[in-house]
Amino acid sequence: MENDDRTVLKVSKLEVVYHHVSTAIQGVSFNVSDGELFALIGANGAGKTTTLRAISGFLRADNADITDGEIIFLGQKLNRLAPHKITSMGIALVPERNKVFETLTTDENLAVSVSQSRERKQIERTIYEYFPRLKTHKNHLAGFLSGGERQMLAIGQALLCAPRLLLLDEVSMGLAPLIVSDLLKTLVQMKDDLDLTILLVEQNAAAALDIANYAAVMENGRIVFDGTSQKLLAHDDVREFYLGLRKTGEQSYTDIKQYKRSRRWWG
Ligand SMILES: Nc1ncnc2c1ncn2[C@@H]1O[C@H](COP(=O)(O)OP(=O)(O)OP(=O)(O)O)[C@@H](O)[C@H]1O
Ligand SMILES: [Mg+2]
Repeated sequence: MENDDRTVLKVSKLEVVYHHVSTAIQGVSFNVSDGELFALIGANGAGKTTTLRAISGFLRADNADITDGEIIFLGQKLNRLAPHKITSMGIALVPERNKVFETLTTDENLAVSVSQSRERKQIERTIYEYFPRLKTHKNHLAGFLSGGERQMLAIGQALLCAPRLLLLDEVSMGLAPLIVSDLLKTLVQMKDDLDLTILLVEQNAAAALDIANYAAVMENGRIVFDGTSQKLLAHDDVREFYLGLRKTGEQSYTDIKQYKRSRRWWG
């Protein structure tokens, strides 16, 4: 999160207001460095999606505005640029909802994402290599894909934009834990192979902190703490409220009972 020449994205004191009256996020600041996997975690309504919408330029569709602060991507200010312009600058978003066109096949979904280009076929091959399940379902309607396959397809569509920065909104939503773990592992592999930088939004804090280098926690439209994943995993409040674990060093009743039992048996 250092602000140096490796900074790809710099968000400073960002404020977003919906419908001219309702402030969703305020004073949100963070930096994402080149090659980093940065996770933004927080409960429902904390402002995670709003932050990604602001970066990708999709606020206007929801009658929202950036009312303060700025977003700088590779030295260029993004505030109020149109989504297609931001995409062409190298940012692709996998949105929270409506990720794929349900009435088109997998192959067609990839085809409509970006117009034909020389690299397109190569990227498409890469997507099918990372997600062989998509290849198997190449000619199936996206509406009949499983939740995990839809997430894979949505990630594939974003990759076709040849992004430098990939924004992912809740790719784990509704998926079984093992599928989440596989999907996130593939993402990390992709990030390294394709030189991507990833900003990931997740309610599943455990899954996010497992793969992220750096993370920030949002509550009520603000970032309340941030740090390396290791630092957050050791943070008492993060452990208690986001990971459902006990505070570090604290023992539960079951631990103490277990300890007494083992003393009686072995001691
Ligand atoms: N289209 C909208 N119109 C008005 N208010 C909105 C709109 N979208 C979001 N909000 C409000 O903005 C705040 C932040 O919402 P946001 O969707 O960014 O949260 P989130 O962290 O992504 O939550 P979740 O984990 O449930 O997806 C909430 O108070 C929400 O009610
Ligand atoms: Mg959201």
